[in-house]
Amino acid sequence: MSDVVEIRLRINGRERRGRVPARLTLADFLREHCGLTGTHLGCEHGVCGSCTILMDGAAVRACLMFAAQADGAELTTVEGIAAPDGTLSPVQAAFRDHHGLQCGFCTPGFVVTATALLKDNPDPTDDEIREGLSGNLCRCTGYQGILKAVRAAADEISAEEAR
Ligand code: FES
Ligand code: FES
Repeated sequence: MSDVVEIRLRINGRERRGRVPARLTLADFLREHCGLTGTHLGCEHGVCGSCTILMDGAAVRACLMFAAQADGAELTTVEGIAAPDGTLSPVQAAFRDHHGLQCGFCTPGFVVTATALLKDNPDPTDDEIREGLSGNLCRCTGYQGILKAVRAAADEISAEEAR
């Protein structure tokens, strides 16, 4: 692989091209080249989940990938989770309403992880929610608010689908 790689991808619905160092992480590409600083870096070792984004609809850790590996992919960062008019997604609104965040550092990763979880399993049990969020670490909340928020978002999405 040469030292600089051309990549072309879609991020939050927008086409982007770039020439990036072959070993630039996807997280650093998003933050430093794209200005999308909502993707947070906690551990940079795949442990904390703060850097979670959606890649072709699946939750991935942006700190564990090179930007070059995302060539051709469709990415959604936390900045792309709300509706284009700014309306919060059900997960975002539930985090706000159920005290799912304190300092907010882990919140982007939790919001993206929960969004992917509820897309794959719109009606999860509480245990499935716990399991689905178990790869994300929060230093502040003791997790109860986060679990309540994801439960509420799941219930809201199910109720909307039933309407
Ligand atoms: S920063 Fe990627 S998992 Fe912690
Ligand atoms: S809200 Fe502070 S780390 Fe989770």
